[in-house]
Amino acid sequence: METTLIILKPDAVQRGLIGSVVSRFEQKGLQIVGMKLMKISGELAAQHYKDHAAKPFYAGLVRFMTSEPVVVMALRGVAAITVCRNLMGATFGSKAAAGTIRGDFGISNSFNLVHGSDSPEAAAREIALFFKEGEVLSYTRAVDSWVYDASGGKIE
Ligand code: RTP
Ligand code: MG
Repeated sequence: METTLIILKPDAVQRGLIGSVVSRFEQKGLQIVGMKLMKISGELAAQHYKDHAAKPFYAGLVRFMTSEPVVVMALRGVAAITVCRNLMGATFGSKAAAGTIRGDFGISNSFNLVHGSDSPEAAAREIALFFKEGEVLSYTRAVDSWVYDASGGKIE
């Protein structure tokens, strides 16, 4: 099981797409283990996007991400990091495949609705940035026995 950080960016919140985007992840079988609405501070955005600090789009990205509230989620599941990146689609909405979140809901390069951690190291770092101790929960869902096949003694 992996846990990944997903952010519904300000465009998703402003466009009334929180429910639609969260549904994509829920329908896949991912478990929401952390979730909150928040406004990202300049300091937090700088920490989160530190690897992009030298990129030409960095200033605009930080301005966008701090402009209006976002929804941050910690999602758990088998291969959750890759599964979420695949559900999100390619970075630019105009290039993202139909059937993906970015492909179905957006067309912009930078206003692309969602962020997802891109490695286990990034996921651990980002979850610690956005969630305090105790805000990411472990709990059992009755439906997990139908989401995953545990009949062989391991989760498949
Ligand atoms: P993310 O980090 O948000 O999950 O997106 P990503 O991995 O698909 O893309 P990344 O290269 O990490 O870029 C981070 C975010 O910066 C904005 N961006 N704008 N205008 C541009 O050329 C440009 N390039 C990137 C996007 O919001 C992208 O998601
Ligand atoms: Mg990225």
